[in-house]
Amino acid sequence: MRILVVGGGGREHALAWSLSRHGHRVWCAPGNAGTPGNIPIAADDLAGLVRLAREGHIELVVVGPEAPLVAGLVDALTAAGIAAFGPSAACAALEGSKAFSKDAMARWGVATAASVTVTSIEDGLAALDRFDVAPVVKASGLAAGKGVIVPDDRAGAEAALRLMFIERAFGSAADEVVLEQRLIGREVSVLAVCSGTEYRLLVPAQDHKRLGDGDAGPNTGGMGAFAPAPSLGGDLLATVGDRAIAPILHGMVDRGTPYVGVLYAGLMLTDAGPLVLEYNCRLGDPEAQVILPLLADDPAELFLAAVRGTLSGLTLSWTPGAAATVVMAAAGYPDAPRPGDLISGLAEAEAAGCHVFHAGTAESPQGPRTAGGRVLAVTGVGADLDAAVARAYAGVEAIAFAGAQFRHDIGRTIPEAT
Ligand code: AMP
Ligand code: GLY
Repeated sequence: MRILVVGGGGREHALAWSLSRHGHRVWCAPGNAGTPGNIPIAADDLAGLVRLAREGHIELVVVGPEAPLVAGLVDALTAAGIAAFGPSAACAALEGSKAFSKDAMARWGVATAASVTVTSIEDGLAALDRFDVAPVVKASGLAAGKGVIVPDDRAGAEAALRLMFIERAFGSAADEVVLEQRLIGREVSVLAVCSGTEYRLLVPAQDHKRLGDGDAGPNTGGMGAFAPAPSLGGDLLATVGDRAIAPILHGMVDRGTPYVGVLYAGLMLTDAGPLVLEYNCRLGDPEAQVILPLLADDPAELFLAAVRGTLSGLTLSWTPGAAATVVMAAAGYPDAPRPGDLISGLAEAEAAGCHVFHAGTAESPQGPRTAGGRVLAVTGVGADLDAAVARAYAGVEAIAFAGAQFRHDIGRTIPEAT
């Protein structure tokens, strides 16, 4: 098939790699220095992408990032008669608006942390009285993974409200702000490929969100991941599917906007059971870089079955063993990543048996250079988690660029929120 992957991060390189491996012809818009068939059209240029898909006789478009999904790229492609895998804008609002998402959870009976949505600093400050412990403060709209503040005390919560409503640090993404009860427990992600009320759970992956070893430092887009996640063993994965995925799918069908695409539930495993922290409307990054290498099937078959509504006839097969990915980030990440550093050792890492997925990279006459925050995701697959981790780090050791930052404990410490 002729397939277009929209986006230019590590997730999109993993998608393009996985689709190419099954014999498809793959283009990426805009892609990065590692992706095949790059076409310089930005992921938010909806009209340009529809034109590209039509003129390029594309048979399937796979949309990676949330912003074009929330903006309605899949609606525009579908209206043009092009098969596109990803939710409509009406469904992507589950990620695009945390206020909508909390409302959906309450209406359709998904267990989640207590919360209140406010639209002014005055209401926000007043609402703080309702929480025993300072609540988590969340900009409702898309903020590139940075719109959630976990304050230590009431003063910190007040400062977060001022940052959102007065300093407008997140712009209109913080026109609505969700204050949410702070939870304690282990964080896990459950991802499902969905079509109407049918869904197939993907192998559960665990992300490492903090910048530093031992979960120190600021939150990031994700510094590494591994799969399968042992904390979702036994019946827990299926239970989470029943309680966190299925009710949303039924609700969306009842509302007349069936969900097609990946639904990603971010959960906290608390003493009171699994509670949903957030929904994402897409594959995780870097979760995709460990899930896709373990998928034995052709992802295009899976995505097309979702688009066509034929998921019920499909079972997924997974490569036995485990996968781990270590993100290598640029100097200055996450605040001010430095571009332009020359990257060496990519071929050596591949020779060590790794899959090196590019994210923030750009070609230069001397070779690829850093061009973003998260630069590479180095994935190892092995017979078990230890073997996968060892292989990923063998790849990381082979790669060098000035100021490279990476964690040394991916797959070795299991993140836990406190
Ligand atoms: P979100 O984008 O809503 O998943 O939030 C980003 C990160 O903030 C999560 O991955 C958690 O680490 C943390 N977080 C969000 N909500 C809560 C909560 N209610 N209690 C504790 N930590 C949270
Ligand atoms: N790794 C977290 C995310 O993709 O949102």
